[in-house]
Amino acid sequence: MPDLDRMGVTEEALAQIARMPDPRQREITAAAIRHLHDFAREVELKPEEWLAGIGFLTAVGQACTPYRQEFILLSDVLGLSRLVNLMHDAEGREAAGTETSLLGPFFREQAPEFAAGESIAVHATGGEPLALFGQVTDAEGQPVAGAGIDIWQTDATGLYDLQANEPEVMDLRGRFRTDAAGRFDMRTVKPIGYSIPMDGPVGRLVRQQNRHGMRPAHIHILVQAPGYRELVTALYLGDDPHIDSDTVFGVSRSLVVTPRRGLPGAPEPDIAAIRYDFRLSRLAEGETGGRVGADPSRILPAAE
Ligand code: BEZ
Ligand code: FE
Repeated sequence: MPDLDRMGVTEEALAQIARMPDPRQREITAAAIRHLHDFAREVELKPEEWLAGIGFLTAVGQACTPYRQEFILLSDVLGLSRLVNLMHDAEGREAAGTETSLLGPFFREQAPEFAAGESIAVHATGGEPLALFGQVTDAEGQPVAGAGIDIWQTDATGLYDLQANEPEVMDLRGRFRTDAAGRFDMRTVKPIGYSIPMDGPVGRLVRQQNRHGMRPAHIHILVQAPGYRELVTALYLGDDPHIDSDTVFGVSRSLVVTPRRGLPGAPEPDIAAIRYDFRLSRLAEGETGGRVGADPSRILPAAE
């Protein structure tokens, strides 16, 4: 029997997982054990602090529902989601596609389909009309026809449909398809910046850290086409007061836009428009294409 001291317990914990059959799971578990033990030693973690941490994580789990993913929110406010995105973007890239941004907790699969020129603001009232148009191309600028584009955003009061309505109601989200020239054309209303959900344990953590919980106004976009890496991104409105201090670290310079009237090629000259061209990078050999984030109902299925 080994006589464990504060370093020996780490060696023993690593030794006990040495026969985990999946090498990648073993690598991840071993690194987690090493870093957790190093962390506890570095801060000289006290039993009551350890228990407070366990209590916090328990509350995060209890806040999860089929429509709310508090663990992803925790990952977001700690910068972990952005870090995983950055590493994913950089991996195996020959020609760069559009930069990615966080999926966030409000993405939903099977959003309603819309034809070019239609508005995703079906139930929402108010808000300044906005057109979003452009082209989906590959990384060399060749059009990608038939690409699916999901778009979702808050209403003009800063709420997603899941927050403003019963869960069955989908609004301010939809799916469009590019035409033969890779073009798309959507209508919506101008979103405003909003606070991440602050009524749970992650919100309490953010307040404790003396941070605001705001995200700058943005429109989420997810583009899918066979043979290409899925693009999960968002367009951020440059005039938002929180554009430089997003609480979940989602903004990149290349994703900042300014709606304007009278843009060349704009479908309706009288409403403010954003033109944005999305570039897709090809899937590498054997790559399946990971996604940072998920539709919450896929993680914790709705109770029967
Ligand atoms: C969002 O943009 O929808 C979002 C992202 C991360 C945390 C909360 C919200
Ligand atoms: Fe969002």
